Amino acid sequence: MGFVVAVDGPAGSGKGTITKLVGEKRNLVYIDTGAMYRCVTLDCINNNVSYTDIPGIEKVLEKISIELKNENGIQKVYLNGKDVSEEIRKKYIDDDVSEYAAIKQVRDKITPMQQEMGKKQDIIMEGRDICTVVFPNADVKIFLDCSVEERARRRVLQNQLKGIESTYEEVLENIVGREKLNSTRDIAPFVRAEDAILIDSTNMTIEEVVDRVLEIIDEKRKQN
Ligand code: DC
Repeated sequence: MGFVVAVDGPAGSGKGTITKLVGEKRNLVYIDTGAMYRCVTLDCINNNVSYTDIPGIEKVLEKISIELKNENGIQKVYLNGKDVSEEIRKKYIDDDVSEYAAIKQVRDKITPMQQEMGKKQDIIMEGRDICTVVFPNADVKIFLDCSVEERARRRVLQNQLKGIESTYEEVLENIVGREKLNSTRDIAPFVRAEDAILIDSTNMTIEEVVDRVLEIIDEKRKQN
């Protein structure tokens, strides 16, 4: 088993940016698990399989191949051999991903793939159920929180940088709706693990959060 840092947090909490930077600084392979649920969503949509069609989803899952590759410091996502890194960030995926991610068959497929990734390398993995289900015995467990208003504000800014038009109201509605679905689903709901260290990033800069996470990791490594 490698050294495992597990980070859970809601959309817009900054966990993608932060875990990527921490990974680079401490030589941990960065794994964005949301990207894997986004791949399942894209594959199903491409095959006209709705989230109510469980047999159809099972068929898609039988053949699916998802690869997360680090190319010159950038994480690239390959679905069935094709680079879908940009496609999976589009709004139509945002809109449906929580529905597909709530399905037992989907999680039963994805969770062991994630556990496998922590066996052979040192990793920092971010998602919604990493501290609770995927790696409950991770060396370091962090819950990255942030107020919903600040998360919406950050997402609008991110969208602007990407040239995507969005209003604060629609982004707020989307994140509130998505996270409600994620938190209330039956399987692997998005909750804070009791023993995860809470960091509230609402009034912190990225650098401050990164420094805090590095401190926690370094402290743990000293003990090992
Ligand atoms: O982090 P993200 O927004 O890219 O995640 C996309 C969706 O995938 C999110 O709505 C919830 C789901 N997800 C999940 O259920 N479990 C994870 N470990 C990661 C993401």
